[in-house]
Amino acid sequence: MPTSMIHIEGLTKRYGNTEALRGLSFTVPKGQVVGFLGPNGAGKSTTMRILAGYVTPTSGTATVGDLDVVQRAVEARRLIGYLPENNPLYEEMMVVDFLKFIAEVRQVPVSQRSARIKSAVERCGLGQVLGKDINQLSKGFRQRVGLAQAILHEPDLLILDEPTSGLDPNQIVEIRALIKDLGREKTVILSTHILSEVQSTCSRVLIVSGGQLVADDSPERLTSSGDGGEVTVVLASKFNQPLDAAAVGTGLRGVPGITQVDAVAGEGGNTLGFKLRHGVEDPRRSLFEHVVKQDLVLLEVRRTQVSLEDTFRKLTGQGSDAQPRKAA
Ligand SMILES: Nc1ncnc2c1ncn2[C@@H]1O[C@H](COP(=O)(O)OP(=O)(O)O)[C@@H](O)[C@H]1O
Ligand SMILES: [Mg+2]
Repeated sequence: MPTSMIHIEGLTKRYGNTEALRGLSFTVPKGQVVGFLGPNGAGKSTTMRILAGYVTPTSGTATVGDLDVVQRAVEARRLIGYLPENNPLYEEMMVVDFLKFIAEVRQVPVSQRSARIKSAVERCGLGQVLGKDINQLSKGFRQRVGLAQAILHEPDLLILDEPTSGLDPNQIVEIRALIKDLGREKTVILSTHILSEVQSTCSRVLIVSGGQLVADDSPERLTSSGDGGEVTVVLASKFNQPLDAAAVGTGLRGVPGITQVDAVAGEGGNTLGFKLRHGVEDPRRSLFEHVVKQDLVLLEVRRTQVSLEDTFRKLTGQGSDAQPRKAA
């Protein structure tokens, strides 16, 4: 039995001279619900298409349930339910006929087809629209049809590319609930450029930018609550003389709870500014004690909360529409 559901190693993908993926590596164990987050053009869809067997990587490997998605494409695909970006569907087909068609394409044994369709229809709440043409459906129902077709062959892994994009707020809530429900028994990787999406649905977040992994953590730890936060301090000497920035920085590094010290511009003159990262504990009391002991003056201390948005922006540059790297 494989322990990992997805294993990606050194994956690259080049389209002409655009490097969509630049050495992406990550592993997803069985049963995890993972958010695949990144600005537009980060390489999310490319990664998902490679996993689903629709695009061949330029180099590197990807396996699903220990099956190489290129070498053993047919077997790997059986393990995967895939909802592509923009959910392309056969517009002219009735929902029920579409699901029958997919059951056939997915080679669901004839004897099991009606039971599987019935179960997917119940799961995705499609009972009332079975006789409608797909082009008559609301965007929310189209997504449900997309999810139903993805689970018909009972895959272990669901790959959902921007499953809530274009939905209204009520539809988003419904589709998220459905994904959460499916995530109870399957491994799920869902991509999004909306941060709140992963906070409510996923236990782990992978952030990609420019075709590379820039963060891999829980949503809690990527926000301030789990990982502490940041304090900005401005210091001066008691008698308004120049300070030795390196020495003061080293001193701050020794304050209990401080994990990182970065110099920032002070107020000008003989003041020094520092940005301090800290753990879960509020470090302000020990900071104050330290400053007093060093005969320094604390001109300012400001605590900044780190939101997932901040983390995202910091890790991905601008936070949206990051430009893809061009190959040299
Ligand atoms: N078929 C393609 N041909 C050429 N360039 C592509 C193609 N698909 C994606 N790209 C480029 O690869 C980069 C990554 O795209 P994509 O994987 O769709 O990112 P995301 O899904 O994160 O928005 C982008 O610069 C995009 O323009
Ligand atoms: Mg995409």
